[in-house]
Amino acid sequence: MLKNFILCIFAVFALFFVISLSAQADDTECARVFEMNCGECHEIERGCELFGQSKEEWVELFEFMEDMGADIPENELNLLSECLVTPGEAVKQVCER
Ligand code: HEC
Repeated sequence: MLKNFILCIFAVFALFFVISLSAQADDTECARVFEMNCGECHEIERGCELFGQSKEEWVELFEFMEDMGADIPENELNLLSECLVTPGEAVKQVCER
């Protein structure tokens, strides 16, 4: 009985650990994609100033960027429109460089 209880606690901790790792991986990937695509034609700061705006506003901006000639893969735009709404540490660091 006690053994089951301990196992159960362990499983919960392991789950949290995996979730926090995958959130970090997303953040790093987000920073990479952001830096690679959005610093190409102008200063990356342009994007940094907009952190916190809604997903719809990002999507609108990406459409504008595509009109300006940006050619960013669909899956990368999807990632950015999710992860720039609440940017993590890795993304913020791109702007502090
Ligand atoms: C193909 C080149 C190109 C790429 C790639 C690009 N932009 Fe732009 N961006 C422009 C041009 C051109 C303008 C408009 C002219 C200007 O203000 O310099 C602009 C303007 C902006 C503006 C100001 C918008 C406004 O309403 O005045 C922001 C913010 C911005 N870009 C962010 C981004 C972000 C974020 C990315 C990555 C997803 C990105 N850009 C990728 C070319 C690009």
